[in-house]
Amino acid sequence: MRQKHIKYVTEELLATEGVITTIQMIEPKTEHVYLEIGSGKGKFITDIAKDHPSDHYIAMEVNINITYRILEKRNALHINNLTIIHGDAENLLSYIKPDSIDGIYLNFSDPWPKKKHHKRRLTSELFLKRYQIIMKKDAFIQFRTDHLELFDASIEYIEPYFHITDINFNLEESAYMTEYEIKKRAIGPIYQLTGKVEKDAQESI
Ligand SMILES: C[S@@+](CC[C@H](N)C(=O)[O-])C[C@H]1O[C@@H](n2cnc3c(N)ncnc32)[C@H](O)[C@@H]1O
Repeated sequence: MRQKHIKYVTEELLATEGVITTIQMIEPKTEHVYLEIGSGKGKFITDIAKDHPSDHYIAMEVNINITYRILEKRNALHINNLTIIHGDAENLLSYIKPDSIDGIYLNFSDPWPKKKHHKRRLTSELFLKRYQIIMKKDAFIQFRTDHLELFDASIEYIEPYFHITDINFNLEESAYMTEYEIKKRAIGPIYQLTGKVEKDAQESI
């Protein structure tokens, strides 16, 4: 995602506003905890967190300036059930405890089209193994994209680790949409896969 450089955004500034900027375990604050990885500017996760104040939401975003956009929304909407992590999903297991997550949202993850980069896809095998560890029994994954090749490949990546409950090649508009979804809907269809984790499906890492 291209993003204008915002000069004054530093890790220190984010940390003073309560953003997690160093690797540390996040304590679940409520019975149900939901995680979005690669949250972008944060419209989806802030909207859903605002409407579900008795659940704990976690947004993870690797780009510092984009993370600041999530923080702006959290502050503007006075949301206090959202933890923002400025960090890389490569380190997921150092932030999130095993068996603690009820649902994972992956929205418009970077497609990494070149074959040699497929390992970086957030739906690739090593990430799925990490998700399997942090998810509770029967937790769900919801993956949404406009990129057909990534979608088709992700169905294959996901199948060994999740019981796929729905595959939709023309998703209707919904109450919770990301900045990318709103933009991409003008161009073509949106694809969505949902599934339930199978904790014992494959050997974990
Ligand atoms: C194409 S954008 C989509 C953003 C948002 N989900 C949306 O739909 O509007 C992908 C986002 O994922 C973030 N991202 C990519 N790899 C990541 C990783 N390993 N850990 C955390 N965030 C990541 C990028 O910085 C970028 O903001």
